[in-house]
Amino acid sequence: MNDPRIIVALDFPGAGEAVAFARRLTPQACRLKVGMELYTAAGPRLVEELQSLGFEIFLDLKFHDIPNTVARACKSAAALGVWMVNVHALGGRAMLSAAREALPAGTGAPKLIAVTVLTSMADADLNEVGIAGNAQSGVLRLAALAKASGLDGVVCSPLEAAALKAACGRDFLLVTPGIRASTAAGDDQKRVMTAASALVAGAHYLVIGRPITAARDPVAALNALNREITGNGQA
Ligand code: C5P
Repeated sequence: MNDPRIIVALDFPGAGEAVAFARRLTPQACRLKVGMELYTAAGPRLVEELQSLGFEIFLDLKFHDIPNTVARACKSAAALGVWMVNVHALGGRAMLSAAREALPAGTGAPKLIAVTVLTSMADADLNEVGIAGNAQSGVLRLAALAKASGLDGVVCSPLEAAALKAACGRDFLLVTPGIRASTAAGDDQKRVMTAASALVAGAHYLVIGRPITAARDPVAALNALNREITGNGQA
């Protein structure tokens, strides 16, 4: 089965750039992530266009609302035919369960994953919004809640992958951004890991943006990353 581990983050402002870029890639080499910026600009038609090119799509809209609204949004994502969709674990057990009921596991519905603590939030930011303790304990608690609510996995920092794999088991999907070549600048990502190390730590899928989209030769960059992973025997 074709199960590429790399999900390329299509962080482009509009459909034109996104489709032109996607046409340079292949569905054998990667999946694609459509996030808030691109979806707000280009909407479901763009997702359909990317799917018509053969790509599987991670719709990264991080739903966080009352259970009924999130359940309906998840159903809309399933109707669109996306491969993966995400919600915020901070929406709580009822919201997570409603999302799960809207997308029954193992039915060909999109994989349903949760965001735990945004990697942009440090302990002080969490304390400021009323969440005591540190980010790591928050991540573990919210991942456990996501698992108990039947979700397929979480988005996490690669630095949290090993602890989450130990706590939640190897079948609970770990989707990790923050991937950088050891020699590359980190852009605004502070807590980074290489692709191969992230897989060794327990990540199932790697979300990679600028190291591919901003590379002089994006196809070569993607191929090199896939070779790095395959060399590790994990792809
Ligand atoms: O360019 P870069 O590889 O940093 O892109 C990472 C992608 O993963 C971006 O689309 C970003 O929005 C997303 N992301 C992240 N950290 C999270 C969740 C999502 O960087 N915690």
